[in-house]
Amino acid sequence: MSIEKVSTILKMADEANTTAIAFNCTDYNTIASVVKVAEELSKPVICMLYPEHAHLKHWTTPKIFVETVRDVAKNVKVPVGIHLDHCSDFDYIVAAMRCGFDSVMYDGSMLPVEENIKNTAEIVKVAKAIGADVEAELGRVGFASTVADQNDTDKYTKPEVAAAFCEQSGCSSVAVAIGSAHGFYKETPRLDIERLKKINAATDVPLVLHGGSGIPNDQLEVAFREGINKFNVGTEFFYLYYQTMKKFCEAGHPDFFDLPLEVQNTLENYLRQKMQLSKIRV
Ligand code: 13P
Repeated sequence: MSIEKVSTILKMADEANTTAIAFNCTDYNTIASVVKVAEELSKPVICMLYPEHAHLKHWTTPKIFVETVRDVAKNVKVPVGIHLDHCSDFDYIVAAMRCGFDSVMYDGSMLPVEENIKNTAEIVKVAKAIGADVEAELGRVGFASTVADQNDTDKYTKPEVAAAFCEQSGCSSVAVAIGSAHGFYKETPRLDIERLKKINAATDVPLVLHGGSGIPNDQLEVAFREGINKFNVGTEFFYLYYQTMKKFCEAGHPDFFDLPLEVQNTLENYLRQKMQLSKIRV
């Protein structure tokens, strides 16, 4: 069984001066593709559940998600992490940790920083007792659909606050706002690398870059060298899944039961390209 703690995977990434890649997954097709390609390329990987996909969209449940990743990963050699993405609901996070998520994100980015610290510290206290890692967010990574979010430097992570935030909250990693945003970009993002360098110099915890769909590779390569150790990708992965199903159905394929294989093959081709961005090999 190759399930590994996310903090261990991020430490490996930090030591290799690169990033680990974390993919939002919803079901067996996404999880199996991610783990298969990670094994093929000898790279650690992290499967993340976005809570809304479970409780509002009914793709899975936290328990089924954890069991699926564990089962798919049991025969591979590479480290596979399990992580609960963006969640602000204390009870949901605790329930997820009890189901086996040994890494969770508490997202207090919409709150004043003092409250964000206080709430993150409360989650960290419970997580420590269970043996789980906690990713926090400092600054606010918004949504690419508004364009304004990615360019609003008021929402960017302030390097001068980062050290105290990490120390007082006790977080294991921190998501930083440096010009990325979630969803498809309407305008090519320009990552604030100088800010990233300052945050990295001020903190000891691994830094996380959200909004990974559509950031140009040359910018990513610099960001990974300058301190990003976890890179989150979702939108473009899901969109490819959707497009593949749509094409399959529109083509009037004779056997409906071939759909998962078609989806997995297409996702795997995409993942082979994306995972090359991480320079770790295990
Ligand atoms: P995208 O959906 O924009 O790739 O971002 C994923 C993410 O940051 C998940 O936390």
